[in-house]
Amino acid sequence: MIEISNLSMHYQLGAARIDVLRSVNLSVPAGQRVAITGPSGSGKTSLLLLLSGLERPASGRIAIDGTELGGMDADALADLRRDRIGIVFQSFHLLPSLSALDNVALPLQMANRPDAHERAAALLQRVGLGARQGHYPSQLSGGEQQRVAIARALVHRPRLLLADEPTGNLDDHTGEAIRELLFELNTEAGTTLVLVTHDPDFAARCDRVLRLHDGHLNEVKTNVRAPDAVPV
Ligand SMILES: Nc1ncnc2c1ncn2[C@@H]1O[C@H](COP(=O)(O)OP(=O)(O)O)[C@@H](O)[C@H]1O
Ligand SMILES: [Mg+2]
Repeated sequence: MIEISNLSMHYQLGAARIDVLRSVNLSVPAGQRVAITGPSGSGKTSLLLLLSGLERPASGRIAIDGTELGGMDADALADLRRDRIGIVFQSFHLLPSLSALDNVALPLQMANRPDAHERAAALLQRVGLGARQGHYPSQLSGGEQQRVAIARALVHRPRLLLADEPTGNLDDHTGEAIRELLFELNTEAGTTLVLVTHDPDFAARCDRVLRLHDGHLNEVKTNVRAPDAVPV
């Protein structure tokens, strides 16, 4: 699903150069649940932006589902996101002039899907916001906006979900509901999950835990997923 080789990236601020990724390699098979951890400023968000084609690397290659991002123009990358990738941004990126329902429906409307509102309503229900469809982002708490952002990222049934601290602003109860939702999606639909998280419990429940530090991505832990428990 994801193949990254020798990926390097830096930001240039005047004379200062910030090396964010130094020759990172990663291979993620379809359906895997991957947690990315690492200190603040270690490049976790930057890595997700590269994977979604919203930033370009200085060097190296990224392929999603066998498609090399480097050779694609902005329109082709937008199509790839629309068709195959769901993204939950750290800062949500909801459109303030649209209701929760319209924010979630937007990706489907852009693809001219007639069931856009119906499916958006079902997703909002699933993240516990069925009663808040008509509310605008400014009328929702941070955690509620985050759930709208999660519903929007899932509405088009992406093969790959990239989520930047998806439970970072949620209370324990809501956070657990969102973790369950993401894992259900993974088991039911085989959605590949790449989750940036500071939550050790969330990370431990993923198949793999990777840590970004000093520009390097290291494997911290690989879990062998237990087969579904058989009731005795
Ligand atoms: N647009 C930008 N311009 C310059 N520097 C940036 C930009 N975005 C991020 N950085 C810097 O790159 C480093 C990695 O940032 P980021 O990927 O957001 O880390 P993380 O998500 O792990 O906290 C940080 O030092 C950050 O300050
Ligand atoms: Mg970040």
